Amino acid sequence: MGADLEKILVTEDQISARLAEVAAEIDADYAGRDLLLVGVLKGAVMVMADLARALHHPCSMDWMAVSSYGAGTTSSGVVRILKDLETDIKDRNVLIVEDVIDSGLTLSWLVGNLRSRGPASVEICTMVRKPLALDVDLRVRYVGFDLPNEFIVGYGLDYAEKYRNLPFIGTLAQHVYQR
Ligand code: PRP
Repeated sequence: MGADLEKILVTEDQISARLAEVAAEIDADYAGRDLLLVGVLKGAVMVMADLARALHHPCSMDWMAVSSYGAGTTSSGVVRILKDLETDIKDRNVLIVEDVIDSGLTLSWLVGNLRSRGPASVEICTMVRKPLALDVDLRVRYVGFDLPNEFIVGYGLDYAEKYRNLPFIGTLAQHVYQR
């Protein structure tokens, strides 16, 4: 895959070091409280697996799959649930785990949807936040890395369903998405 990549933005070591810091914060914040991690498929698979193992706090895990309506690669903010939670989240402390927040529209919708189910709390943890997300009224409690608005892949992030299994986050070479 080397020829398809332009540069590495976050190395495997940087990811695991940052995840250890975020996990320590989560351990402290949820001390004595129940914790349900909700991973958003498919991109969040890597961060869920690594974050859950970095936590010392006991937690449950569940998954949602959502899809933005609309053409192209940009989020429209209109979201359809492809796979819902199996867990009743009433009175639970929900921590949504994401690979990336770009426009912030998917998460804004998802937080509203989950809040309507009567949880004790809903917070967000994302490995990557892009600059546009800062313009949206969305409180993101745990952020791995704030990265520039570039075409990034790896560690769960795909382009046309490829590159998710790269253990680092890098930028895609222009010739890949312009061909
Ligand atoms: C990504 C990511 C978020 C969403 C963020 O998912 O996992 O769910 O896009 O974009 P937004 O902030 O602009 O709304 P994607 O739809 O690419 O699906 P995937 O996780 O299966 O790759």
